[in-house]
Amino acid sequence: MGSLQKNYMTLTTSLLENKVSVPREFNRIASSYDFATQLSRGYQEDLDTSAIRMNLKGDEKLLDLCCGTGKSTLACLKQLQSGTIVGVDNSEGMLLEADKKFTTQISSGKVVFVLSDAMQLNFPDNSFDVVFIAYGLRNMPDYEKALKGINRILKPGGKICIHDYCINDNIWAKAYWAILGYGFIVPFCTVLSGSSRIYTYLVKSVLTFLNPGQVKNLLEQTGFKNVEVNPLTGWRKPILHTFVAVKA
Ligand SMILES: C[S@@+](CC[C@H](N)C(=O)[O-])C[C@H]1O[C@@H](n2cnc3c(N)ncnc32)[C@H](O)[C@@H]1O
Repeated sequence: MGSLQKNYMTLTTSLLENKVSVPREFNRIASSYDFATQLSRGYQEDLDTSAIRMNLKGDEKLLDLCCGTGKSTLACLKQLQSGTIVGVDNSEGMLLEADKKFTTQISSGKVVFVLSDAMQLNFPDNSFDVVFIAYGLRNMPDYEKALKGINRILKPGGKICIHDYCINDNIWAKAYWAILGYGFIVPFCTVLSGSSRIYTYLVKSVLTFLNPGQVKNLLEQTGFKNVEVNPLTGWRKPILHTFVAVKA
C-alpha cells in the first residue's frame, strides 16, 4: 500500500474515531450539500415521511437536532401550523446555508438556528415538545449519552423522532449498502463536492452503526417508551428507518 493511500485511510478512520470533528468536515461540503441531496432521489420526501410519522398537533416547540442546511427543518415546518423550531448544528457552513432558506421564518421568530454541539445541549430540562434528529444520531460519539441528553430537554410525554441510515441486520442489506456507498455515493459525491473524506466516513459510519433492533433497545434504556420502528420505502427500504418514541 502506498503512503498516500495509508495517510488517506488514517484520515477517514480518525474521523470515525473522533466524531467531534465531523461538523468541521461538513463545513467543506456545505455549499454542495443541497445539490448532492437533490440528486439523491427521495431525500426530501423521506424526511417528509418521517416528519408525518411524528403525528404532531401542529403547535409544538420542536428541536431539529443536527439540522444541517435545513432540509429536515423544512420537513418539520410542514407539520407545524403554529409551532416553532429551533435548529441546532455544529457546522457554521451548514447553518449559513440554512439561514438563507428561512429568512421569512427567522424574522417572524418561527425558526431560529443555533450553533451548538448536540452532545452538550444547554437548553433547560423539559423545554421541548419534540426532538427530530435526521442523519444525526449516527454521528454522535456516544449514542447513549446523546439520547439521555435529548431525554432531559424533552417535556414529559414529549416525542423523539430519529431518521437515519440504520441497516437491517442481514448480510444482504449490508452488501447492498457497501456497493451503493463505495460504488456510487463516494465517487459521485467526491466529484461533486471536491472532498471524499466525509462521504467515505458516511459509508463506514453506516456500516458500523446500530441495527434497528439495537436502536429500539437503546431508546428504551435511555428513558423512552412506545417505540415505533418503520422503514422508509423504495430503494432505501433496507437501510433507512424512522423511530418515533415518547419520553417515559
Ligand atoms: C447528514 S447532515 C443532516 C442534515 C439534516 N438533518 C438533513 O436531514 O439534511 C448531518 C449534520 O449533523 C451535524 N453534526 C454532526 N455532529 C454534530 C454534533 N456533535 N453536534 C451538532 N451537529 C452535528 C453536521 O454538521 C451535519 O450538518
